[in-house]
Amino acid sequence: MLENRVAIVTGAARGIGAATALLLARQGAKVAVCDIEAELTEMVSAGIRAEGKEARTFLCDVSMPTQTDQLVKDVVDVYGKIDILVNNAGICPRIPVDEMTEEMFDLMFGINLKPIFFLTRAVANVMKPYKWGRVVNISSTGGRIGGIHNTTVYSGTKGGMLAMTKTLARHYAPYNILINAIAPGAVDTRMFENVQTDAREEYIGTVPLKRMAKPIEIAHSIVHLCSEETTWVTGATLDVNGGVVMM
Ligand SMILES: NC(=O)c1ccc[n+]([C@@H]2O[C@H](COP(=O)([O-])OP(=O)(O)OC[C@H]3O[C@@H](n4cnc5c(N)ncnc54)[C@H](O)[C@@H]3O)[C@@H](O)[C@H]2O)c1
Repeated sequence: MLENRVAIVTGAARGIGAATALLLARQGAKVAVCDIEAELTEMVSAGIRAEGKEARTFLCDVSMPTQTDQLVKDVVDVYGKIDILVNNAGICPRIPVDEMTEEMFDLMFGINLKPIFFLTRAVANVMKPYKWGRVVNISSTGGRIGGIHNTTVYSGTKGGMLAMTKTLARHYAPYNILINAIAPGAVDTRMFENVQTDAREEYIGTVPLKRMAKPIEIAHSIVHLCSEETTWVTGATLDVNGGVVMM
């Protein structure tokens, strides 16, 4: 259980982030539900509060360090500390190699990778004095083995995230801040809707469990890495993918 823990979940307006925010709150954590989508984010927070749990909406563009610094300050102002950070916000526009622009390249690295450094650093500075912290970065099978379906740049952001997870894990280990990554396979969220039906069916055919995941199935693994009982795992990548990649 996570009573007295304070968690930030980014990209929590829907999909994996929304499921994670709900599950952390059900475990007793106070949850800062963070996204750029005001209405959807408030629906998630309100849904959690309707269950008698604690959650508040924090609007923040994770690609902008000025905004993530402010997010950390605002969460500390409201809840007094931060124990858990789930770096989940991400975008995956599927763009063929020859159509990729510099602007889109920078946008994808800005949203998917930049907060893994800047937001994690800001949160870790709050965690340090308490000598307790959990950070979970949401990568992808694309970051593990390379991407498919026009995800060249996306897979680069997710692979970079895995290297940074290990380096940050070493850096913050003296403060008992454990930093891990999860590499999901295909999950049934809006992000996977832009994959055409035949490509989707072909992909599912390659998954040993023969289906996509539901967001809650990824959330359970995230919450496991955030738990009080997870004390000896840091710098690891957990593959949560129905068996499609085994490393
Ligand atoms: N769905 C999949 O198949 C899949 C597979 C592997 C990894 N992932 C990863 O899981 C994470 C969650 O994805 P999802 O499938 O739930 O997708 P989703 O599109 O449903 O949710 C992503 C959320 O991130 C938010 N977001 C986007 N840009 C943001 C920004 N600049 N600042 C703050 N929030 C922002 C969106 O508003 C949205 O709520 C992503 O990092 C994604 O790369 C997803």
